[in-house]
This record gives sequence, C-alpha cells and structure tokens, in this order.
Amino acid sequence: MTKDHIGEILIPEKIILQRVLELGQQISNDYRDREVIIVCVLKGAVVFLADLLRCLEISASLDFVQISSYGDSTKSSGKLDFIQNLTVDIFDREVLVVDDILDSGLTLYYLIDILKAKRPVSIRLCVLLSKVKNRDIDINADYVGFWIPDKFVIGYGLDYAGKYRGLRYIATLEIS
Ligand code: PRP
Repeated sequence: MTKDHIGEILIPEKIILQRVLELGQQISNDYRDREVIIVCVLKGAVVFLADLLRCLEISASLDFVQISSYGDSTKSSGKLDFIQNLTVDIFDREVLVVDDILDSGLTLYYLIDILKAKRPVSIRLCVLLSKVKNRDIDINADYVGFWIPDKFVIGYGLDYAGKYRGLRYIATLEIS
C-alpha cells in the first residue's frame, strides 16, 4: 500500500506572502478607480484569494465558481460542468479570475471562454502558480505569483485527495 507525505518545500510562507502583497499592489494599480468582480475558482484558490483580497486597495466584489473538467492534455473534450456557477451578471463588468494553479491550462481556458461569452468589459487571469511546461493549449495568465517545475504540489490551498490544503507553504508531494 502506498503512503503520501510532504516532500520538499518549494515556496516558504514568507516568500508566498511577500509575492501576494506584490500581486495585490500590481492589481490595485492596474484597476485603479475601476470596479472589478473577482471570480474565484473553488476550491484550491480560496487560501490565495483570502490573502490577495486583503492586499487589494480597490473596490472588488466576489463571486465563486466550482467546475469539473473532462479530458486531459492529450485529449480535450472542452466540456466543463459547473458544480457552482456564477451568481452575478458579469455583462459589461471587469472580471478578474483567480485560481491557484495553471497546469495543463484546460480548466481555465474553457472557463474563460465561457465567461467571455457573457460579454464582460475585460477579463484577466491571476494565478498563484504556473507550471513551466509545454502546454497544448494557448493560455497565459496576466498575473503569475510563481513559475514552478512540472511536479505535483500541495499546500496553501492545493490538495492531494482532499488533504494538505491548510499548509502555509507550497511543497511537493511524495508517494512511497
Ligand atoms: C485545479 C486548479 C485549476 C485546475 C488546473 O483544480 O485549481 O482549476 O486544477 O488544472 P489544469 O490547468 O490542468 O486544468 P482541481 O481540479 O484540483 O480542483 P480543486 O481546486 O477543487 O482542488
């Protein structure tokens, strides 16, 4: 039987919080005097969102989506199921999507496609982590906290089988 455990610490708490503060300042400058709707992608992004939100100096309201996607990087169906859909109308609004990680890119690519169809004024993407890898799909985040190697990571919202979301740092997962 295999056992999972915390591996190498990739990003310590202090470094995460410093970077989140910088992202908050950058976003605040970019959206100065504009009202933004933050769309947080459940569940992994909630820890990042909670810290980021408190670093923003702009008027921001919140909404949440939770999605399950089908397909993988080699075979994309493009199908997303909303477990939780938007509760506000984003037509004619400025939208900032916040998620924890850009991996294959499929989830966020299709989410943004769906959101664009609702005709917001603008739509930008902010992720805490982006994996350095060749993506089959053309997606880039406007704000990236950290570029990380293509390893399975846990902590600061990210889970493995529902565990480890409460870690204050980002670490690799080890299975033995
Ligand atoms: C993660 C993450 C992104 C997606 C990224 O969510 O929050 O939404 O996967 O993967 P992709 O770029 O390969 O599509 P996950 O499905 O793990 O759900 P969770 O946030 O509820 O843990």
